[in-house]
Amino acid sequence: MQFPRDFVWGVAASSYQIEGGASADGRGDSIWDTFCRGKGNVWMDQTGDTACEHYHRMESDVDLISQIGARAYRLSVAWPRVMPGGRGAVNAAGLDFYSRLVDRLLAKGITPWVTLFHWDFPQALFDEGGWLNRDSADWFAEYSAVVVDALSDRVSNWITLNEPQVFIKYGHGDGINAPGLKLPLREQILAGHHAMLAHGRSALAIRAHAKTPPKVGYAPVCVVRYPKTDGDLDAARHATGEVTVKDLWNNAWWMDPVLRGEYPESGLKVFGADVPDFNSGDFDIIQQPLDFLGINIYEGQPISTGAAGEPVFAPRPVGHPLTAFRWPVEPESLYWGPRFMHERYNVPIYITENGLSNIDWVHLDGKVHDPQRIDFTTRYLRALRRAASDGVDIRGYFHWSLMDNFEWAAGYKERFGLIHVDFETQERVLKDSAHWYRGVIESNGEGL
Ligand code: FCB
Repeated sequence: MQFPRDFVWGVAASSYQIEGGASADGRGDSIWDTFCRGKGNVWMDQTGDTACEHYHRMESDVDLISQIGARAYRLSVAWPRVMPGGRGAVNAAGLDFYSRLVDRLLAKGITPWVTLFHWDFPQALFDEGGWLNRDSADWFAEYSAVVVDALSDRVSNWITLNEPQVFIKYGHGDGINAPGLKLPLREQILAGHHAMLAHGRSALAIRAHAKTPPKVGYAPVCVVRYPKTDGDLDAARHATGEVTVKDLWNNAWWMDPVLRGEYPESGLKVFGADVPDFNSGDFDIIQQPLDFLGINIYEGQPISTGAAGEPVFAPRPVGHPLTAFRWPVEPESLYWGPRFMHERYNVPIYITENGLSNIDWVHLDGKVHDPQRIDFTTRYLRALRRAASDGVDIRGYFHWSLMDNFEWAAGYKERFGLIHVDFETQERVLKDSAHWYRGVIESNGEGL
């Protein structure tokens, strides 16, 4: 069993989570700046104002990526850094930061993978209705074109949206992420529809403006439901592929429009009257050819089969391993997620995020020993390799995350990095896992 030759080994991070420099060089506010100012929204009322100060330490941070040996870096562009008001005026200094970042990466032999939206929506456009306003698709296309004009002579890998399930459901439904809204399901579905329309318009803008042949992708969460036993395969495939529960935490609602040009029948049935009337022409925009599907996978849910063949959520054994975030350790998810997505959509797949938060600190010997991260990632990568040898077209893996960072509503409590960050001094220390990952990359996963 082997990973394909040319397999892309990368690390990932996102703008708001690492950059800091919240008011540097004319950056505008995003909804996350506003949300963090609200009391009680984020653990200990922490904010991304400073984060990892990556905005001011970009050069040396790229050197660290190079020390890890990663060949690819998934970064995101902060929309309000490039366009402080979200549309119209372009902030040259903000754009220049990303241009310098791209140059630095290329100088070190690291391929940039640029995500255009990783949740830091411009506050000014939220004030005009945000994703509930249908114009949001045009705003996002305008911004996409600005970034592509500036970077596409050097960047060819593009991801439009990161995890629409999360920024719509958790941001607009449960209210635990920015902008903190608790809208009825029907309005969440409308906002989600506009976000997918924005994906389509952005893909069109990327292809219209790219100076080098672009590869366009989309990075939703892959909600993995895997068979508890061999006999549960059909139930698990159904639970992963279709909308079986009245909840936006699923795959098909967010992937079928983009990859098949329609909402899934199962979802239309389950959501019923909560689905607004959509203009059928929208799907011609939403469904653009995709060069790859990026999927973010951290965990999965075992499924058994009910009396009528229906999927049943199987309980995990007592004492099942958990990460520091209390997310279950489920290596099988990196086999079944890619496999089910391959079966349903048949497009090249990249794991655009996978990793864990762990209880890490700098030990007395000055190092950060994180055997759990090494063991976790070994297990998950073995499962991914098995998917590759079973014929799943899997092209790459990006570990989340390059460094400890601002973990949204959990603030700095959760440490996901291969690099430890002391948030008081901004000192970085490569964890044991970073050294280990270097070996994985150099051997293309041989030793796993
Ligand atoms: C994902 C997000 C990413 C990070 C990880 C832990 O949902 O895309 O920014 O927070 O979870």
